[in-house]
Amino acid sequence: MATAIIYATVHGSTEKAAKLLADELENAKTFDINRESFDLNEYDAVIIGSYVRMGLFDKTVRKFVLRYYPVLMKKKTAFFMCSLMKENEEKYWRNNFPPQLTEKSKTAHFGCEFKRENFRGFEKRVAKSVIKRNDEKGIYPEYELDREAIVRFGKELIKDGIS
Ligand SMILES: Cc1cc2nc3c(=O)[nH]c(=O)nc-3n(C[C@H](O)[C@H](O)[C@H](O)COP(=O)(O)O)c2cc1C
Repeated sequence: MATAIIYATVHGSTEKAAKLLADELENAKTFDINRESFDLNEYDAVIIGSYVRMGLFDKTVRKFVLRYYPVLMKKKTAFFMCSLMKENEEKYWRNNFPPQLTEKSKTAHFGCEFKRENFRGFEKRVAKSVIKRNDEKGIYPEYELDREAIVRFGKELIKDGIS
């Protein structure tokens, strides 16, 4: 079964996660939705991954999911997000994707890398406040992709017939 992993990234975490997940699967190709083209008809299974900013997934990802909702409902699908706040995961799914789609799909949160030196201007201010809030709560002292979660998700997807 051919699988497309379609992702959006700003600073590279989600791209890295998409490629690590592809390595766990048998016949998966990755596509940056904002830079590469692909034909959904060529794939029986579609995995979509996005970063989260201010509670929202990438705009192109959100538009794509709404536009191709009927097609995606008929395919095997799975979704992942890369973000800092795992505790908000359910809220992010709810606010960004139609529930029918996430209910029929496996979903995962892969954490993210969060490199202060990447950020400029507005990003820098938001990053500072997010980190401060998390540090104060004593959560996420390390900002790394959750590689175990990626491997685990890959295994679950293979079991589910996505590979
Ligand atoms: C401006 C900005 C806003 C962010 N907002 C959120 C947020 O609302 N929730 C969250 O969990 N993480 C948030 N993050 C963390 C990002 O989700 C994280 O940096 C993400 O993995 C980046 O993915 P990328 O490296 O693929 O661009 C934010 C980061 C930035 C820079």
